[in-house]
Amino acid sequence: MLENMTGLQRSHYCGEVDETILGQEVVIMGWVQHRRDHGGLVFIDLRDRTGLLQTVFNPQEDEVTHQKSHEVRSEYVLALRGTVRRRPEDMVNPNLKTGQVEVFIRELRVLNTSQTPPFMIEDHHEVNENVRLKYRYLDLRRPKVLNNFVLRHQVARLTRNYFADHGFLEIETPVLTKSTPEGARDYLVPSRINQGQFFALPQSPQIFKQLLMVSGLDRYCQIVKCFRDEDLRADRQPEFTQVDLEMSFVDQDDIIDLLEGYIRLLFREIMGREMPRPFPRLTYDQSLLRYGNDRPDLRYGLEIIDLSETLAHSEAKVFAEALSRGGCIRAICAPGAAVFSRKQLDDLVAFAQTLGAKGLAWIKITSEGWQGPLVKFLTEDEKTALAKVMNAKTGDVLFFGADTVQMAAAVLGQIRSRVAQELNLVRDDDFRLLWVTDFPMFEYDAESKRWSAMHHPFTSPRDEDLSILASDPGQVRAKAYDLVLNGNEIGGGSIRIHRSDVQAQVFRALGISDQEAGEKFGFLLEALTYGAPPHGGCALGLDRLVMLLTGASSLREVIAFPKTQKATCPLTEAPGPVDLRQLVELGLRLSAPKA
Ligand code: AMO
Ligand code: AMP
Repeated sequence: MLENMTGLQRSHYCGEVDETILGQEVVIMGWVQHRRDHGGLVFIDLRDRTGLLQTVFNPQEDEVTHQKSHEVRSEYVLALRGTVRRRPEDMVNPNLKTGQVEVFIRELRVLNTSQTPPFMIEDHHEVNENVRLKYRYLDLRRPKVLNNFVLRHQVARLTRNYFADHGFLEIETPVLTKSTPEGARDYLVPSRINQGQFFALPQSPQIFKQLLMVSGLDRYCQIVKCFRDEDLRADRQPEFTQVDLEMSFVDQDDIIDLLEGYIRLLFREIMGREMPRPFPRLTYDQSLLRYGNDRPDLRYGLEIIDLSETLAHSEAKVFAEALSRGGCIRAICAPGAAVFSRKQLDDLVAFAQTLGAKGLAWIKITSEGWQGPLVKFLTEDEKTALAKVMNAKTGDVLFFGADTVQMAAAVLGQIRSRVAQELNLVRDDDFRLLWVTDFPMFEYDAESKRWSAMHHPFTSPRDEDLSILASDPGQVRAKAYDLVLNGNEIGGGSIRIHRSDVQAQVFRALGISDQEAGEKFGFLLEALTYGAPPHGGCALGLDRLVMLLTGASSLREVIAFPKTQKATCPLTEAPGPVDLRQLVELGLRLSAPKA
């Protein structure tokens, strides 16, 4: 028979009951983790948000309650009243916060029963992810999963406090809005009242936060949901959360300085770590050259080195051809990688080829000399120079990429990270932050034969590059910066364009006609003509940040109700079909479903 809580009030969370309250009566409420029947004594481990607590039912002390404890099953919801006692010496559990004590129960009420859950509510149990997400409310009962959300809450609270302390106003921006160009597809919402018209869910509050600066609000911050219909990966979700901020009358260093203070606060309060300041900075060009991408993992070295000069006259066809086509020769030196098996090396070559490289020449430096497919083409002088430039010693392996600059960077960037894994150079408890600055303003899309904004079209070009906006867009640099942690982009921002004429020029450079710019962003262009202050800001990916702080392997571990890789929710079965009546109301008709 189910009972209610009347007359019982919880006195403690399970995890709070310890040897400081021996002899006290406590009332606890929670879920049954285990019930063990030792013939005489019955033990029930009760669980709530804070942890596990062992309770004991002794027939000698309380016959009726002991009898009742036999009805109880896993995940039943109980209210228990009893006395805290020290556990016998041999029963102490040092792995449990409450492992020194147990509670002798005098009253048990079953508040609710439970079906047998589809998986054990235990951390170390491997469960298929679809099942976990279908029963996410049970998955969230597992301490490790739950703790990610405790940490996420701490991050959110610290975030609000930090920015409030620095004069930021928290202001909400619309969710039903017009498309903002952050480079992904929009989620659209049909309008019933204005049939045939659509809202877009914001890819970010970018334009609104700029409008708030035009309003003179000076400093805005919001923990905000963003929506992007893009191909999903472990570090991407269709709806995700940004710590979004914008400030007036600042330059790049002011924003970087403020954010370094924020990130250091998080590391101090949550991880107990002092992160050195200032964070290192690399320009986009340096990052691409030395690490092969714009979000380098600085937990290990393996820097890429350009050998185009050192090997300018190489006899090796692979090298000579790359240079004659205007490409480059670059390499990394993997310390101690001479222990790699032939298969390991072959796998790396094959991996490089899947990335689009023609090959991946390597040189093993052993005590018997240099080995590898291209060694025979190298002169003694070239070997000496190579060893010096690459800082190579016996036991190392050099990996070469000879290709276009883009391909060599991309391939060696990936080889770098894979070699680091294989050499066990990546430490999970190491956190390396850096800023990447001086991004190009535009990137060229060969398919559509158009320039697109590398960050977004509201980003300010550097002042000295304004004159070449129209003539040489590829050379224009932006006042944009990214924050990178262990190889993940955790934030991005820029100084914005605050002059309407410059914004119009950038739209033109992007191949957006004045008419189209007017239709899409006329309200912004107009706002900029009413005294827009110089301003800039940034958005941090809160989910990514929490993922890295918790050591989780996917964003799904730190979002309470996430979407699958296929952008669905197994729990609610969203997205789903709608009634014909709803479609009619919206003035929508579906094209014939695919056979
Ligand atoms: P950006 O597009 O770089 O900038 O986004 C900022 C940060 O948001 C995170 N992020 C994501 N996290 C999870 N899933 C996704 N699909 C996803 N997409 C982005 C990343 C990224 O660094 N309005 C600008 C910011 C500005 O200029 O102030 C913007 O949205 O960590
Ligand atoms: P090949 O002349 O194609 O037989 O290649 C000789 C060696 O150079 C092999 O080990 C290839 O993996 C390697 N190689 C081929 N093309 C490239 C390239 N573009 N960059 C680096 N190594 C290459």
